[in-house]
Amino acid sequence: MDNTAMAAENVIEVRDLCKTYITNKRQLNVLRNVSFTITSGEMVAVMGPSGSGKSTLLYSVSGMDKATAGEVFFCGQDITKLPDNKMAEIRLDEMGFIFQQMYMMKNLTVFDNVILPAMQSKKLHESRKETKARGEELMRKFGIIDTADNDINEVSGGQLQRACIARSMINKPRIIFADEPTGALNRSSSDEVMKEMVRINNEGATIMLVTHDAKVAAKCTRVLFIVDGNIKGEYELGKFDDTDESVIKSRERHLNEWLMEMGW
Ligand SMILES: Nc1ncnc2c1ncn2[C@@H]1O[C@H](COP(=O)(O)OP(=O)(O)OP(=O)(O)O)[C@@H](O)[C@H]1O
Ligand SMILES: [Mg+2]
Repeated sequence: MDNTAMAAENVIEVRDLCKTYITNKRQLNVLRNVSFTITSGEMVAVMGPSGSGKSTLLYSVSGMDKATAGEVFFCGQDITKLPDNKMAEIRLDEMGFIFQQMYMMKNLTVFDNVILPAMQSKKLHESRKETKARGEELMRKFGIIDTADNDINEVSGGQLQRACIARSMINKPRIIFADEPTGALNRSSSDEVMKEMVRINNEGATIMLVTHDAKVAAKCTRVLFIVDGNIKGEYELGKFDDTDESVIKSRERHLNEWLMEMGW
């Protein structure tokens, strides 16, 4: 690399991460010395068989769950030993979350759900009016402004997932974590959601996403393949420009060939 180029910042650096569950006196080593790095601007997909530890990895890296051993540096700071209140603050202010089961508050409108993390955070020092304006702007950007006043059971799965993307961005996080963000969606809704994920990534958002879907992974910049709690391999795809239809076909073909080698 040209040494005049600015080095990309490590947003996540994981070293020898282990997670062990103990159930019925049996010990289950779900993550075994996992190490990897995510630099700013990357969109990293985690793939692997069911039960291989993908969700556990996402939860341990994002501080939703405590690792058994190892370190997770978030923007240079080891977050594995932080007290719960400090970790909660980082998760609210600096991390966005998108899940398959869309965790939205049932008694709030779509709009109020989108801006809720900003209402709970002290990070941005803005007025209620400014927060609302940003919430509207995000919903407009993702094509769901017409659903703002709906209850969350009055919108489609794809719309709700786009609302989750808006919500995940409301506090201007350093990274967005997504566990199967398209897992519950049909192909066309999945494509709509991925279009937005790719767009925010191309605008600078750093994303770590778990997926079973090679079509989804083919739009990411890098793929990690995890088997039995270990990273078995990684595949660099680079940035995806979604304006050229032939590009996605060739990315999918190359990724699928690699996934076959990995035993997918
Ligand atoms: N809270 C828990 N207690 C005990 N075992 C758990 C717990 N959570 C997960 N596991 C086990 O850890 C292993 C990895 O689970 P995980 O949910 O991370 O897999 P995954 O790769 O996300 O699978 P999927 O693709 O099906 O979502 C599984 O064997 C699972 O049963
Ligand atoms: Mg999972």
